[in-house]
Amino acid sequence: MKYKFTSKENFSDFSSGKVINSIPGIPAFPIRLMSEVFQFCLSKRKQNNPVTIYDPCCGSAYHLTVLSFLHIDRINKIYCSDIDEKVLTIADKNLKLLTIDGINDRIQELKILFQRFHKNSHKDAYESAEKLKTILFKKKPHIDILKKSFSNNILNPSFPSELVETNIDLVFADIPYGKSTEWISRNNEVEEVWLLLENILKIINNQTLIAIAQTNKIPIEHESYVQIKKMKIGKRIIRIYKMKDFI
Ligand SMILES: C[S@@+](CC[C@H](N)C(=O)[O-])C[C@H]1O[C@@H](n2cnc3c(N)ncnc32)[C@H](O)[C@@H]1O
Repeated sequence: MKYKFTSKENFSDFSSGKVINSIPGIPAFPIRLMSEVFQFCLSKRKQNNPVTIYDPCCGSAYHLTVLSFLHIDRINKIYCSDIDEKVLTIADKNLKLLTIDGINDRIQELKILFQRFHKNSHKDAYESAEKLKTILFKKKPHIDILKKSFSNNILNPSFPSELVETNIDLVFADIPYGKSTEWISRNNEVEEVWLLLENILKIINNQTLIAIAQTNKIPIEHESYVQIKKMKIGKRIIRIYKMKDFI
């Protein structure tokens, strides 16, 4: 796949488990790819204002947190949900890193770990955390992104009224795949993606872009959507959809 919006960069400050936590055993979403998807979606928008994102299968929110650090001046609201309440604790911890208090706490935590154990890994993480703090100060000083996480089964959802009333610009989901993360309650990816698309119709509008990282090779046919882009890296296929314009 050719990248149009991103160049090869060193993303090591964002490595999973360093400053930003991830769920053990779940491969982290590739950083350059997530940035490419995000920037592609921005390029398709008519307006230039910061966007509201929703991730219905957020896990640890590692991918949302990294994305927010990379594009902090282009995001103003983050909503995320997962069926598993345990992972939401990690998601909240990660999203808190997007605040000055949160990143300061993490810096302090890593400093104490280094003083106690003298490990280079803690020193590296401490230095990366300082760099992430600089990003917060440089790009969007004093303005907190609104962040809300809630527990939800996206195959049988009940959305908070706040989400229904919000203009969601981008749904970006890294859905379960393979053995490490499986859909809870069903097990056919094509059906599940169809159902996810069907369910989010309650909260999106005809300008919302929907990016879903999936593994199925068969495109999903849903009468309300049109696929506007496909990106493929290894087994991961990102399909980007929009609602069809009905006349
Ligand atoms: C690939 S992981 C997401 C990883 C995430 N992008 C991150 O950065 O940590 C997929 C997530 O989907 C969640 N999941 C599984 N079935 C679900 C369902 N029916 N509704 C909502 N979330 C579900 C899992 O709990 C898991 O956290």
